[in-house]
Amino acid sequence: MPHFHGMTLQWLGHATFFLETAQGTSILIDPWIESNPSCPKGWKAPGKIDLVLCTHGHGDHIGDALSMDQRYHPTFVGIYELTGWLASQGVKKTVGMNLGGSYRFHDVNICMVEAKHSSSIEGKGAVIYAGVAAGYVLQIEGEPVLYHSGDTALFSDMKLLRELYAPEVACLPIGDHFTMGPRAAALAAEYVGAREVIPMHYGTFPQLTGRPEELRHHLQGKEIEVVDLQPGGILR
Ligand code: NI
Ligand code: MN
Repeated sequence: MPHFHGMTLQWLGHATFFLETAQGTSILIDPWIESNPSCPKGWKAPGKIDLVLCTHGHGDHIGDALSMDQRYHPTFVGIYELTGWLASQGVKKTVGMNLGGSYRFHDVNICMVEAKHSSSIEGKGAVIYAGVAAGYVLQIEGEPVLYHSGDTALFSDMKLLRELYAPEVACLPIGDHFTMGPRAAALAAEYVGAREVIPMHYGTFPQLTGRPEELRHHLQGKEIEVVDLQPGGILR
């Protein structure tokens, strides 16, 4: 049974996803491609990329933002300070937002939501403030609501996402160490009311020890499905 109604969602390893809507809008979430050890070698977008959504400033999320800009000339969406930094690096098209706000692009409504994590950019000899870390809720015409939490700990205000947006599909980190692990992610899935969870942010580095089987174990009896994609795998 298809999950979507014409949309495709490809996991590129770690927290990076590429999605195309039925109406042809293409979105890259967290541009970490060439230097992402989990990303399929030589991955290229099938055509254009309209939007790049950045969750926060850490290198394993925006490490290839500038090369993506040069190749695809997309519009970068992120928290205000982060898009300001991208603009200072020569990125022409940016949309700076902040937590709780939304931005409409054709058939996609992008809501920036809270995450519990740090955010900064490693500059030359100094650490650059990059605002706070964020997640995204994507309301796409004709599709189930999608939640990408970004890097985050579990927090009880995730229940507000259920009330406000009712996401059905959630991309949640399970690796532990830098984010929540499988047990907390299981509770996060319940808090947001997801029916399907796509585990992410695991296996990339030795510290990220959480695994989808553990998430599945903690979700036993909950009627929440774990969709265990391989890097490069596409959900339709
Ligand atoms: Ni991070
Ligand atoms: Mn990370």
